[in-house]
Amino acid sequence: MNDIEAIRERHSVRSYKPDKIEEEKVTLLREKIDELNKAGDLHLQFISDAGGTYNKLLNKMMGLGSAPSVIACVGKDSGDLDQRVGYYGEQLVLYAQKLGLNTCWAGTFNREKIGARIDSGERLVISIAIGYGRETGRPHRSKDASQVSEVSGERPEWFDKGVEMALLAPTAVNQQKFLIKLAPDESVEFIDKGGILSQVDLGIVKYHFETGSGRKQI
Ligand SMILES: Cc1cc2nc3c(=O)[nH]c(=O)nc-3n(C[C@H](O)[C@H](O)[C@H](O)COP(=O)(O)O)c2cc1C
Repeated sequence: MNDIEAIRERHSVRSYKPDKIEEEKVTLLREKIDELNKAGDLHLQFISDAGGTYNKLLNKMMGLGSAPSVIACVGKDSGDLDQRVGYYGEQLVLYAQKLGLNTCWAGTFNREKIGARIDSGERLVISIAIGYGRETGRPHRSKDASQVSEVSGERPEWFDKGVEMALLAPTAVNQQKFLIKLAPDESVEFIDKGGILSQVDLGIVKYHFETGSGRKQI
């Protein structure tokens, strides 16, 4: 499965089987995390036992309490930390999809119970629930390409493909509050239109756009 196929198959899953992730897959996930931590200067952590991470009232209403494991998204605090977490964390989400696992980005979780290691100067941004889903999720309701993109002049095919993949990106409360602008010199600008955790969203969206368009943005 390539990244585009993984993007098409990925949906947030909030109900999990009790099965633990097999050791071989955990090893692969840890290797991928090491690679992403180096590339993004992050401190993402695979936490085998999610424990009480999803014991919040909102989690009880929406699910996630059944997730066996969790990824804590931690990094050195800086202005672009949220966006880096989105950009590199989504690569882990798509890698998990290829391994047959399911995930859900989750801003609502118990910061004390997750058991993440947060070194001095670091910040815990968000969590990602991970495990084998009881279902595979379903496509989210989506805005149109015209609502999230702007082009001055002609619309090249690579740009449209990038926007198509960006629209399949997970965003907090499915807000899709981003705008992708193509300038006449073919440079691409990503605009954050606000909303909760919208910088994490923007990082995720950038990675999806890159995958669809074949053009690197970071
Ligand atoms: C930054 C971010 C935070 C999120 N926080 C939560 C959360 O706290 N609880 C939850 O159930 N889903 C959460 N989600 C999942 C979104 O609701 C979901 O991605 C969106 O509805 C689109 O659906 P899809 O992921 O199935 O495409 C979050 C997603 C993102 C990107």
